Amino acid sequence: MEEMDKAREILKKYNQTHIKNLNKELAEQVLKIDFEQLQELYEQVNNKVADSDNIDNIEPVKAINPSKISKEELDNYIKIGENKVRSGKFAVAIMAGGQGSRLGHNGPKGTFTLTLNSKQKSLFQIIVEKLQDAQKKYNVTLSCYIMTSPENNDDTIDFFEKNNYFGYPKEYIKFFEQGEQPLLDKKGKVLIGENGLIKLASDGNGGIFYSMAKNGIIDDMKKKNIEWVFIGSVDNLLVKYVDTLLLGIAIDKKVKIATRTIIKNSPYEKVGVLCKRNGKVKVIEYTEIPKKMRFAVDETGEMIYGESHIMCNLFNIEAIEKASTKELKYHIAVKKSKYMNEDGIIIEPTEENCYKFEKFIFDSFCLFDEIAILRGKREEDFAPIKNEKGIDSPETAKKMYEEYIAKNV
Ligand code: UD1
Repeated sequence: MEEMDKAREILKKYNQTHIKNLNKELAEQVLKIDFEQLQELYEQVNNKVADSDNIDNIEPVKAINPSKISKEELDNYIKIGENKVRSGKFAVAIMAGGQGSRLGHNGPKGTFTLTLNSKQKSLFQIIVEKLQDAQKKYNVTLSCYIMTSPENNDDTIDFFEKNNYFGYPKEYIKFFEQGEQPLLDKKGKVLIGENGLIKLASDGNGGIFYSMAKNGIIDDMKKKNIEWVFIGSVDNLLVKYVDTLLLGIAIDKKVKIATRTIIKNSPYEKVGVLCKRNGKVKVIEYTEIPKKMRFAVDETGEMIYGESHIMCNLFNIEAIEKASTKELKYHIAVKKSKYMNEDGIIIEPTEENCYKFEKFIFDSFCLFDEIAILRGKREEDFAPIKNEKGIDSPETAKKMYEEYIAKNV
């Protein structure tokens, strides 16, 4: 009873009185939500445009281009990286909280299956095979941490169980859930879902650091003496989860974060771009890039802000720990989401009707003065699966992957 009263009080205080059918489950949910923070986020909605157009103090970044350094130097970096991998002080983390809705896949994105060189493989299997390759090459079993969301956690674990962890030792794979935030309608009211509860959505891949701390993952890493963690996406067939070159460079340059990039193929490609703001490396996401930056070219016609974030990021454990204690900023996305109105009727909106609040992993970059940036190559590093058809689809990614394997393996 006390819970119900408390919840009612909170709803009243934060102007959420459209919620009328309060029950025990809903009251418990209300008590868990930080409405003070939500109110602040809603207040930021109107300031969003002003901030993303602000390109003061922005300059391009300098990346290490492997084609411009000697073979000797490259080999040396790789050797440093390989030694670290062999020492067992390196682990990987897969960001698999996304649902693959753009792809039209029903289930966790990592369970999406495609035929590669005549073999059926899921995105998860492709990544696990990369760890198995490293196991053979470096004689070490790497720990693998998989970030799921409350929505897909059980399905993800079931999938690994059913597939016997693709033959990888189960005790080296750990799952942990990311956080969620309520969806707010245009007037700042929380949306109610079909189940009568407040509609929650994943709080973005930048939630990974806090979730690692909360779920004991950082402690686990420390116990295992892990110093470096490659954090990658689930949907890029070419991502090098055991990126010894990137690792060697990070160690040699004494930085705490390193990222592998590629050059954007057009001003419209849906990738975040790197720049420096007030001297620190920052990524501007494709949804937020101001026109002036998107179309900026130098005297030769090259894009000035072409160095792109492809979710191939390496973090020292100190960087993970630091990021887990800082509140990364929330970005605001406008989305279309089904909801239940005050009369209990399910509404399928025809246009965008709500705000989603997400943290981005790369906002951790500016916690450090310097990070290492390594320029990779599209044909070797980036074959993403984002859409059902057309660009960045299973068809384009499969073609790139098979061509890469034919040339490199
Ligand atoms: C992401 C990057 C973008 C980059 C592009 C390259 C961010 C914020 N954006 O954009 O800069 O150029 O990939 O492909 O990093 N995920 C979670 N939890 C979430 C949201 C996403 O785990 O709450 C995971 C997904 O499962 C996936 C990855 O993060 O592995 C990318 O997510 P997605 O939403 O597809 O990112 P993009 O919009 O493509």
